[in-house]
Amino acid sequence: MTTRRLRASLFGLAAAGGLVLSLMSCSTTPLGVAEPPAIPGASFVGNKTCQECHANITRVFPTSAHARIYLEGEQRAGQTGCESCHGAGSLHVKGGGGRGKFIVNPGKDPAACLQCHLAQQGEFQLPQHHPVLEKKMNCVQCHDPHGSDIFKRASGLAMARLNENCAGCHREQTRPFVFEHPALREGCVVCHSPHGSINAKMLVQPDLNLCLRCHAQVQGPSVAPGQVYIGNVNHTSFIRMGACWSSGCHTAVHGSNVDVRLRY
Ligand code: HEC
Ligand code: HEC
Ligand code: HEC
Ligand code: HEC
Ligand code: HEC
Ligand code: HEC
Ligand code: HEC
Repeated sequence: MTTRRLRASLFGLAAAGGLVLSLMSCSTTPLGVAEPPAIPGASFVGNKTCQECHANITRVFPTSAHARIYLEGEQRAGQTGCESCHGAGSLHVKGGGGRGKFIVNPGKDPAACLQCHLAQQGEFQLPQHHPVLEKKMNCVQCHDPHGSDIFKRASGLAMARLNENCAGCHREQTRPFVFEHPALREGCVVCHSPHGSINAKMLVQPDLNLCLRCHAQVQGPSVAPGQVYIGNVNHTSFIRMGACWSSGCHTAVHGSNVDVRLRY
């Protein structure tokens, strides 16, 4: 077991026997190389064996981003994804399965995810972050480790895909408004870093640049030099007062029930 390394690879590169490697995923985020949870005396049986009793999971798993995980050096390369996270399954299967029976359930423990997703650990240590490492919430409230959509959906809300999940905990920002802010249709993540950020409220940018990505600032020959127009309104003196939302102007950035200009 100690020489066997778990390897996350997209490309099925030839095995480099037992070396500790750090591989790059297609998003160029380095993925750590970890060992599967140890289950003394058990051997690897492959995903197909799990199908018999966990059809609901094995049915959706091939379309998951996690279907790309496999154990390096195993005969069944490409088929050992389940056991990468749950440990070798032979004793669990032989005993007819069951909870706590020779199988590891990582449950809500973020450590199980972070051993491969090293880069995300740092994000949760930024000054503003979702309290995952503090164990007040967990990765699997937002991510589905098995399903075709790694971003977990909450039910019933007609918001953009990514927002549905946020809505489960942040109703105030996701309820319907008389004057909606179309920015939210592109997902909460256009303005917020979902794991953590150095900026207050986990914003992706701390100042008016957050808004100017979509609300082009006009400055040039058509307007007097030095004048700044946003949405056909002269903002020259306004933008000296602070960020668009904290200066008292567009306080209701998520939507307003009283003012089209997004105010409370
Ligand atoms: C013979 C049937 C059977 C097979 C085959 C089987 N399991 Fe299970 N497994 C069960 C049963 C029954 C449970 C109890 C929970 C349930 O009913 O879903 C369970 C529970 C689990 C749990 C949760 C354990 C816990 O402590 O909460 C995991 C994880 C698991 N199985 C993974 C696997 C994996 C991975 C495979 C393939 C290597 C596999 N199982 C193959 C029957 C089986
Ligand atoms: C990337 C890691 C990962 C992979 C790969 C993975 N699982 Fe899981 N699995 C988890 C985590 C995390 C949980 C706990 C989820 C939770 O508590 O919400 C879990 C929970 C389970 C459970 C228990 C569900 C319950 O009712 O409590 C079963 C059964 C299971 N997995 C089977 C499988 C099978 C079968 C495969 C392969 C088709 C697989 N898993 C692949 C991480 C993984
Ligand atoms: C054994 C290593 C391993 C473990 C453990 C693991 N992952 Fe992954 N994860 C991967 C690989 C490999 C990919 C695919 C990477 C890619 O496509 O760039 C992936 C992809 C993802 C993605 C999608 C990334 C993207 O760019 O679209 C998310 C989200 C994710 N994992 C979350 C989790 C969570 C949450 C857990 C814990 C329940 C977890 N992972 C556990 C290896 C792992
Ligand atoms: C509050 C919900 C939430 C929690 C909690 C959360 N994530 Fe994410 N995660 C997201 C969203 C939303 C994205 C998509 C970001 C984007 O598209 O810009 C994402 C993206 C990712 C990605 C893809 C690469 C990236 O950073 O964009 C990985 C890998 C990932 N998460 C892993 C994890 C792990 C591991 C944990 C727990 C330690 C975790 N996430 C906890 C919401 C969450
Ligand atoms: C499982 C519940 C849960 C989900 C899902 C969730 N959050 Fe959170 N969120 C929290 C908790 C808990 C806090 C910390 C609150 C505190 O510290 O007072 C928080 C804090 C925040 C904050 C900072 C609030 C402040 O006043 O500083 C922002 C912004 C935020 N979340 C955005 C999001 C976005 C965007 C999503 C979807 C990608 C999301 N959340 C999904 C539970 C959740
Ligand atoms: C157009 C950019 C933008 C989008 C899109 C956006 N937010 Fe915000 N959000 C902000 C700004 C700016 C603040 C800071 C407001 C303040 O400090 O007064 C904020 C603050 C928050 C807070 C802290 C509490 C509060 O209202 O001040 C939460 C929670 C939050 N947002 C959740 C969400 C969720 C959930 C979504 C998706 C439905 C979302 N946000 C989409 C810009 C945005
Ligand atoms: C992802 C793109 C996007 C981002 C980022 C964004 N907005 Fe918007 N916003 C829109 C769109 C689209 C509209 C509707 C069309 C329009 O009025 O330009 C809109 C409309 C508005 C309106 C209503 C204008 C009117 O008179 O009807 C205000 C006010 C506003 N946004 C303020 C902000 C503020 C403040 C921020 C930064 C916190 C921001 N927006 C960030 C896309 C965005």
